[in-house]
Amino acid sequence: MGYNVAIDGPAGAGKSTIAKLVAKEKGYIYVDTGAMYRGLAIHFLKKGVDPEDKKAVAEACKDAEVTIGYENGIQQIYLNGENVTGMLRTEEVGNMASKTSAIPEVRNKLLDLQRSLAKEKDVIMDGRDIGTNILPDADVKIYLTASVETRAKRRFDELKEKGEDCSLEEISKDIRERDERDMTREIAPLRKAEDAVLVDSSNMTIPEVVDAICSYCR
Ligand code: DC
Repeated sequence: MGYNVAIDGPAGAGKSTIAKLVAKEKGYIYVDTGAMYRGLAIHFLKKGVDPEDKKAVAEACKDAEVTIGYENGIQQIYLNGENVTGMLRTEEVGNMASKTSAIPEVRNKLLDLQRSLAKEKDVIMDGRDIGTNILPDADVKIYLTASVETRAKRRFDELKEKGEDCSLEEISKDIRERDERDMTREIAPLRKAEDAVLVDSSNMTIPEVVDAICSYCR
């Protein structure tokens, strides 16, 4: 069994940024499970599947294979053999992933992949249900959150930097909707595991969050 660190929390809390830095500092492999849901979301978008049509989504899962690999230590997502890593981080893909991740067939499709990675390797894995569902016996569990305002502002700055046109209000609305969906779905909703450490990064710098989390890890 590998040494396992689980980081869960809402969209935009900085999980991936922080987890990557902790992975580097501690020599763990970073596993981004949201990217796996996004990989499947690309499959649904390509096929024109309606995310509200649970049967159609379940059916479409049958001809999708998501696998992961690493190039220079960076996680790559393959959808039916095609590297789709560069296509994952758009709002359209994120929304499709948020909607379809509530469907049992979608979650089951990715469960074994996530568990087998943690079994073989020392990992820091981020997502929504890692501490509560995927790795209930993780060595360290962190629930990383921040206020909606902080998360929206971070996302806004990130998009502006990329030169994308966006509105802070739209982003805040999107984050609230995604929180609502991720936290109220029937299976594996986002919640803090009882034995997880709560880290609210609203008023913390990135190095402060990394140090705080590293202090709990081996
Ligand atoms: O972390 P992210 O924004 O890349 O995740 C995209 C969506 O995938 C998110 O809205 C909810 C879903 N997700 C999930 O249900 N369970 C996970 N472990 C990770 C992500």
